[in-house]
Amino acid sequence: MALATGKQILDEAKKKGYGVGAYNVNNMEQIQAIMAAAKETQSPVIIQASRGALKYSNFTYLGYLMKAAVIENPDIPVAMHLDHGNSLETVIKAIDLGFSSVMIDGSLTEDGKTASTYDYNVKVTRSVVEYAHSKGVSVEAEIGTLGGLEDGVGSGKIHLTDPKEAKKFVDETSVDSLAIAIGTSHGAYKFKGAANLAFNVLKEIRALIDIPIVLHGASSVPKELIDEVNKYGGKMPGATGVPIESLQKAIKLGVSKINVDTDGRLAITSAIRKVFIETPEKFDPRDYLGPARTALASLIASKMKAFGTSGHAKDYAPQSLGDMKKLYATK
Ligand code: G3H
Ligand code: 13P
Ligand code: ZN
Repeated sequence: MALATGKQILDEAKKKGYGVGAYNVNNMEQIQAIMAAAKETQSPVIIQASRGALKYSNFTYLGYLMKAAVIENPDIPVAMHLDHGNSLETVIKAIDLGFSSVMIDGSLTEDGKTASTYDYNVKVTRSVVEYAHSKGVSVEAEIGTLGGLEDGVGSGKIHLTDPKEAKKFVDETSVDSLAIAIGTSHGAYKFKGAANLAFNVLKEIRALIDIPIVLHGASSVPKELIDEVNKYGGKMPGATGVPIESLQKAIKLGVSKINVDTDGRLAITSAIRKVFIETPEKFDPRDYLGPARTALASLIASKMKAFGTSGHAKDYAPQSLGDMKKLYATK
């Protein structure tokens, strides 16, 4: 088993009650680190590329690197996922590249910054579902908005998901999984005081909808990593994230996909800063990207263990995109 759809991985996780991390990637070392962690812990995994990441790599380069992860790891179920797709056009490009799972984020307009209307969200999501399902590819959508303007994704205003609207949205769009807003935000500065998630909203949503639930902005921003970044010349005062215990509670209450980008960035940055400060004579990229890759692999392995993903790689029976196409056609 190698390439899996998001639906296949998340339906299984929902059934068994564990969470699957979806880790953002931009380059080869990140992809290798995530796959090393998945192999070590025998976990199914979702590797995801944002629209910005795909653009940075001229689309094809990152797509081929992600495919290499699939080819090199035949025993690990891997979904290649588009994160925060903004339009049908972007989704088509990702599917052409071989992605098995896409997100259409219609909670924002096409610019990726401004909050959209419910009707717009339904319309764009439906168009993506129709296209993606005809190719066997599964679709994640989002309702409600997260905070965090600094990464160019959030709307700047948190608007928690309305459970009844979520139910109506799922019925009207036939999406495979739904990202909800319960107080998380993207980036390294999530809370002013203690972390505070609306678990009551999550419970209500879980009671009303029957598809896997996704949590964006789910990095923990570990203090040790922030301290390390700052120790080696970084400046990230006041950075905070979602504690692992809160994520474990969210998984128990029905979250199946946990999106992590920021923590990976922190692990890489702290490792690279350390090399630069401690051995300023080094200038071979392998001397700092290698330790960054090792640090990231260990961080991701610990998340896989904490989310309960470990050991579940073997549970998946091979299912091709053709099989998924047939499944959607008979729906
Ligand atoms: O949700 C956003 C991810 O952290 C991706 O960020 O658009 O800077 O690649 P990016
Ligand atoms: P973090 O910024 O918390 O890592 O969230 C990433 C994310 O939601 C990617 O879609
Ligand atoms: Zn996100």
